[in-house]
Amino acid sequence: MKISPTAVSLFTFLANTLVSSFTVPTPLSSLTTGRASSSSTELFTRKPFISGNWKLNPSTKEKAIELAQDIGSSVGKDIDYDVALFVPFPFIESVMEQVGDKLSVGAEMCTPEMAGAFTGGISPVMLKSIDVQWVLAGHSERRTINKETDGYINAQCVKILEEGMNVMLCIGETDAEFEKDLVGCVCEMQLKKGLSGVSAEDMSRVVIAYEPVWAIGTGKVATPEIAQKVHVIIREILVKMYGRDIAYDTRILYGGSVTDESIDGLMAQPDIDGVLVGGASLLPDKFGRIINYQLDETFVKELQEVDV
Ligand code: 13P
Repeated sequence: MKISPTAVSLFTFLANTLVSSFTVPTPLSSLTTGRASSSSTELFTRKPFISGNWKLNPSTKEKAIELAQDIGSSVGKDIDYDVALFVPFPFIESVMEQVGDKLSVGAEMCTPEMAGAFTGGISPVMLKSIDVQWVLAGHSERRTINKETDGYINAQCVKILEEGMNVMLCIGETDAEFEKDLVGCVCEMQLKKGLSGVSAEDMSRVVIAYEPVWAIGTGKVATPEIAQKVHVIIREILVKMYGRDIAYDTRILYGGSVTDESIDGLMAQPDIDGVLVGGASLLPDKFGRIINYQLDETFVKELQEVDV
């Protein structure tokens, strides 16, 4: 594969500009966007990933089946990227039966313990035994409501990977941290702690979901430009942790008030490899449009012109 020299040199410049921002918080406004540089070619090497997180919804198995069927009808044969639904435990198998041939059905969390006196626990090995392929870890609601620590989230990630499944690790800053320009620091800490002990080889089964807490369920979607800048920061943290090749192969999704109206702008950003959708994943028409996102023709042409 040949990468355009302009893209490479622009990226090097960008990377050098950003790399100093991890330990000393840097205002987002002062960071250069990586859209053209970081780079067009990468969009083709990372498969897009559109996912929905149903959280504590819907209320019954019948409704879950109906919702899954409606969503499944939006996943056409031409869709050659990943689509997944993270659903409540009691619905996993029924939803798999309905739409398992069209999309992946994942779990919204698990407990890292494998067996024993842990009332309410759901172990990775149990999930594996019903063919779950994807598990969420570190969602901000679990961090805050259930007081899950980075150490606990790390244990989940390690066990999920040990069982041969894939993990989607959620990270992201609060409103106050965003205001204080601590985005890079928070992401770096959550990545380093959450992925502690995860080998470079296992990173092919890890996806990062950047979900700024201030954008979750608030209707305040981060602009595509802000999200892109943070994704570049996250990728550079991964470069420091795992080296360039792995960092560039790792998919980084955006989550937080994504709608059918914001999806195209988000997916047009070169470092946004997909989305994790909450509320809109309960609305089949809207989520169907999100699954079938559209890229602006000029942008697609620009990408096609890059010499790969
Ligand atoms: P909303 O899309 O409802 O903001 O939720 C995002 C989310 O938390 C996905 O995990």
